[in-house]
Amino acid sequence: MAHARYANPFRPGAGHMPLYLAGREIEKEEFRRLLDQSAILDNLVLTGLRGVGKTVLLDTLKPLAIADGWLWVGTDLTEAASLSEENVVVRLLADLAVVTSGIEIARETIKKIGFQARGERAAKTLTFDVMADLYAATPGLVSDKLKATLDFVWQCVRNHTDAKGIIFAYDEAQNLSDKSEKNEFPLSLVLDVFQSVQKRGMPLMLVLAGLPTLFPKLVEARTFAERMFRVVFLDRLDEHDTREAIVKPIGHAPSGVRFTDDWIETITQESGGYPYFIQFLCREAFDSAVQNRGAARKLAASMRDITRKLDTDFFAGRWARVTDRQRELLIVVAHLPDCDREFTPHDVVAKSKEMLAKPFRASNVSQMFASLCDAGLMYRNRHGRYSFAIPLLGRFILRNAGLDA
Ligand SMILES: Nc1ncnc2c1ncn2[C@@H]1O[C@H](COP(=O)(O)OP(=O)(O)O)[C@@H](O)[C@H]1O
Ligand SMILES: [Mg+2]
Repeated sequence: MAHARYANPFRPGAGHMPLYLAGREIEKEEFRRLLDQSAILDNLVLTGLRGVGKTVLLDTLKPLAIADGWLWVGTDLTEAASLSEENVVVRLLADLAVVTSGIEIARETIKKIGFQARGERAAKTLTFDVMADLYAATPGLVSDKLKATLDFVWQCVRNHTDAKGIIFAYDEAQNLSDKSEKNEFPLSLVLDVFQSVQKRGMPLMLVLAGLPTLFPKLVEARTFAERMFRVVFLDRLDEHDTREAIVKPIGHAPSGVRFTDDWIETITQESGGYPYFIQFLCREAFDSAVQNRGAARKLAASMRDITRKLDTDFFAGRWARVTDRQRELLIVVAHLPDCDREFTPHDVVAKSKEMLAKPFRASNVSQMFASLCDAGLMYRNRHGRYSFAIPLLGRFILRNAGLDA
């Protein structure tokens, strides 16, 4: 089929598994080490900017864990911002039920636990209803009830399968929040319960993926989270891996389309090694190559159009929500040489003195940074420094600053 020959092998889009997942060997190795723990001392936090590849790496870790004998449960917590403690319990049990609902509960186990749920006589498996009944029948606080339920579930799993343990994997986990004003502490609940069951030797491991705000948030909820998690910070791909991410998918496709070294170099530079941008630029470049065959158009020319498309598709919406004064501040930040890594309010005040007739004052900057953090454009790390929460935002600003002001 002619059209299949030119099917584009690149996949820009949240959570879309690339045809070729470049690099990430160190991160996978780190995860394998966690799988080898006999008692769980370390859980995993997988963190990084939007579009850096957290979701697809998480999807890649799943089969590794399963091949190693673990059960894997979990979901995406994008909608979790309003979860209460009871909702979190339902969430955890519903996720568990997917892998446990076929597992039988031995009568002796039922007796030993003293579990008197309805329909006791029927042969029982570990369905959501059974777990929810057990949860409801256990006295105490939400955390006591949940611990007892997990304890019971793990005993059944251990007795009836040869699973090494259960991994609870949650993507977009930065959405899980304690809400003291509502007296709801779902995040602390999860941390308390997993710390406690792990202390008692149960191999139930947490794997949380999320934006850079995730880990500070965990530590703020419970200081012991600092020691409970191994933090893997996903960064841009290095030059070698970037090249592979560009070249390998085309090699697999039967189109005969090839990117010249020139193109590869340009895409490497323009993408900054960020996976989403690599996929985006490559998809456009591939289409352009297919349609301009023989025209021998230089990518440099097309790249201006492609970058404009990226600006419209990816950045413009976020930029549109920023006030004029915030834009002015962000333009100053974008002129800092290290802006795509990190910066301090002090750096910005100094730079604004160079650049502006009416420079920003320190108190001003701190206040505006706080609101830019709330708006999801920046985040503050644990050392009080700031970074853009959107990859290559600095470059976008330099490209577009002034055009639309
Ligand atoms: N290691 C990689 N190699 C090639 N492409 C990748 C890699 N990691 C991610 N991508 C691509 O980058 C984009 C963003 O990935 P995603 O996992 O959704 O990022 P995140 O969850 O961090 O926002 C997707 O289009 C995905 O195919
Ligand atoms: Mg994601």
